[in-house]
Amino acid sequence: MATVESGVATGVSFGLTDEQRELRALAREFAEKEIRPRAAECDEGQIHATDIIAKAHEVGLMNVHLPVALGGLELPCFDGILVAEELNWGCSGIGTSIGANGLAAGPILIAGSKEQQRQWLGPLIEAPVLGCFGLTEPGAGSDVSGIQTTAVRKGDDYVINGSKMFISNAGHASFMVCFASTDLGAGSKGLSAFVVPMDTEGLVVERHLDKMGQRSTDTSAVAFSDVVVPAANRLGAEGDGFKIAMQTLDFTRPATAVGAVGVAQAAFELSVEYTRERVQFGLPIAMNQGVSFLVADMATEIEAARLLCWQAAWMIDQGRGRKATKYSSFAKRFSADTAMKVTTDAVQVFGGYGYMKEYPVEKLMRDAKLFQIYEGTSQIQRLVIAKEIYLP
Ligand code: CAA
Repeated sequence: MATVESGVATGVSFGLTDEQRELRALAREFAEKEIRPRAAECDEGQIHATDIIAKAHEVGLMNVHLPVALGGLELPCFDGILVAEELNWGCSGIGTSIGANGLAAGPILIAGSKEQQRQWLGPLIEAPVLGCFGLTEPGAGSDVSGIQTTAVRKGDDYVINGSKMFISNAGHASFMVCFASTDLGAGSKGLSAFVVPMDTEGLVVERHLDKMGQRSTDTSAVAFSDVVVPAANRLGAEGDGFKIAMQTLDFTRPATAVGAVGVAQAAFELSVEYTRERVQFGLPIAMNQGVSFLVADMATEIEAARLLCWQAAWMIDQGRGRKATKYSSFAKRFSADTAMKVTTDAVQVFGGYGYMKEYPVEKLMRDAKLFQIYEGTSQIQRLVIAKEIYLP
């Protein structure tokens, strides 16, 4: 299996293996040919790009971490983030639709039995099937332990009641990993995780939510009303849900973070091109330090963000467990904030044209904002980092 030339024994190297370079080139080509031409249309119309997702699945750019035993590629986290950067460079709305399966598969990979993995992850390998990750609720976003959805044991089943909010791909998914409380008084220790087929009676995708950016990703509100799931669908033991959710986010945050790097990289490339061509006062605006220094800072901060993502993924691939938590949050916080800054500066560099929908940078700025919010806000990443510093 390809691994980064991290030089565990001999020192540090930032080189990629030939396989990793090929994988990254494949993802860039896919983003350029399949995603970019449709990005504006899917953004404008809030179109879930079913056909592009199917093509990504066909060429092997989806679900790249799933186990070989199930027919998957079982690529390391590092290789996954090489793919994620390029797909999000193409369009982060479409990139998120493709990548969100990582969140749905995470809890099953972490806590599912072999049988549960075969049942729920096997179909993801065979076809472009989507799953979704049901953590957030209307009243419990950053505060996961405040989840109010309940799962009450009745014989061999659980009965789930409650609501989930801002669930990526919910309207197109075949199952949700739903986090619900089996003991409301126990806070984080009362949460459990269940795989719930989306066609279960009582489960309703209530409404598709109209977003500022990443508009081609379906984001929906979901209601559970006396939804009966077999106890066999519970992942891990009762009370394991909080840790399963946190471990999943530790694994997925570097991929989300690097998606922000992809968006920033796209804004940077457009800015370089534009500042070379745009002439004011008789010279390309790149000749003006007020402009070229903005672009120089973009390049520097994107590189720093990318390296943090690479390091976080590398930590995960080395099996550093909880030690990787802080690095995932470093990567997510810095990359999201960098994407926001870079895309805002790109709009500035483009001036009046940048603010217009006929130029691509306004979409990148809208898309970037979501990276500071989903999978843990930039403030929550700081909270995680501070906890890891003071209470390791
Ligand atoms: N791995 C394993 N265990 C962990 C852990 C981790 N990364 N983080 C915490 N834990 C453990 C703690 O050690 C503690 O265990 P003990 O009780 O045994 O000591 C327990 O879990 C509780 O931890 P905390 O006291 O730190 O919990 P908290 O209530 O203070 O919350 C938090 C911590 C970091 C704020 C957490 O609630 C959090 O991550 N919030 C953000 C949620 C989030 O990212 N939501 C995104 C939703 S998904 C999404 O947006 C995706 C999408 O659709 C695109």
